[in-house]
Amino acid sequence: MKERVDSLIFNAGQVVTMGQEPGPRRGPEQSRLDIVEDGAVATKNGRIHAVGPSQDLRSAFEAPAEQTIDAERGVVLPGFTDPHTHLLFAGTREHEFEMRCQGRSYMEIAAEGGGIRSSVRSFRAAADEAILGQSLRRLDRMLHYGTTTVEVKSGYALSTEQEMRALRLIEELDQRHPCDLVSTFLGAHEFPDEYREDREAYVRILTDEMLPRVAAETNARFCDVFCEAGVFDVEQTRRVVEKAQKLGLRLKLHADEFEPIGGAELAGELGAVSADHLLASTDQGLEALRDGGVIAVCLPGTSFSLGKHVYARGRKMIEMGIPVALATDCNPGSSMVDSMPLVLSLACLEIGLTPAEAVVAATVNSAHAVGEGADRGRIVPGLRADLQILEAPSYVSLVYHLGGSHVRWVVKDGRVFPPPPPVTTSSAT
Ligand code: NIG
Ligand code: FE
Repeated sequence: MKERVDSLIFNAGQVVTMGQEPGPRRGPEQSRLDIVEDGAVATKNGRIHAVGPSQDLRSAFEAPAEQTIDAERGVVLPGFTDPHTHLLFAGTREHEFEMRCQGRSYMEIAAEGGGIRSSVRSFRAAADEAILGQSLRRLDRMLHYGTTTVEVKSGYALSTEQEMRALRLIEELDQRHPCDLVSTFLGAHEFPDEYREDREAYVRILTDEMLPRVAAETNARFCDVFCEAGVFDVEQTRRVVEKAQKLGLRLKLHADEFEPIGGAELAGELGAVSADHLLASTDQGLEALRDGGVIAVCLPGTSFSLGKHVYARGRKMIEMGIPVALATDCNPGSSMVDSMPLVLSLACLEIGLTPAEAVVAATVNSAHAVGEGADRGRIVPGLRADLQILEAPSYVSLVYHLGGSHVRWVVKDGRVFPPPPPVTTSSAT
């Protein structure tokens, strides 16, 4: 008698399990994939039930026909976790892209009232349904590219009521979409127009008014700050994140995106879960990350989209023993990118990661970057059944054949998207 399971994926050329080791991967461990060749995966109750050679699992388990998938020698990978996005936004900023193509810089455009502040105006003016509708479409596209868990930041609202609204909308997106969302409070994304001349007052609103409400009334798990020259300086950042830590939020930082003002050092000192961007980090900043056990979230799609030709030093980070994760930074200004595979390709081509390191960065390490490493990011029994089934001969094709999606099916909590065609008797036996 075969044991009944909810789904059975068989005949995979490679099941990239990522292995049993639960922690974030650093140094030589960042390239460990633990591949089962000619493999299969069984899922039950939304969890991975068994992984092993295709023949063994086919004789031990059976699943309903519409949940039995012939991977046709393709690759099975854990669903990606995208650990840094700003996908809750209203309206796009094509005109800024055009301006950058004509030679203007991101920071110049921002200083003139474009950039984040322009998205804040759009967000405040837009109806909930309009924002939700656009954001759901973005999540659909991410799922299509194999992403099953997405961190989403607030930060286009920048007033107490509007930031609370943003965090509520993220909760609603989470309920409405199959992807799992992890929410981050980023009230310190910019100084809003009304506090440009009194920045101290806005920092006080963040620490005394917004953070207590965020901690008490929302499910935000993280607090993030855009720690950057001309935005939040190190001292202001410290005040915000220390208050957040006291209230039980974990930390992330936008650090050293343009200038190394000390963001990485602060992330290391305070034991942030991740520090993100890091294009301009000094050796000292990187040492602080390593010593503080901080995950470096690299966002090569942002460098690429800004046409900066300057990238985070991913190779150096791995050599130093810093766990590296990858994310899209999906936002309307600096990175209108929803594709994790594109980010992986850029990581290989521009920041010096190998394909294996990039896959670890987008699964195990990115799950850790949102505090979910114990529950997802690997294909081992007990973890969440979040998988992607690729039409590709090896995991390397994912980064080598760039620009599109290789995904045939995504499995989220054991549910298959889109449903596979019925398996014929001949291929099922
Ligand atoms: O991560 N750097 C700050 N925040 C975003 C950009 C947001 C925007 O331009 O709208 C980023 O790149
Ligand atoms: Fe960002």
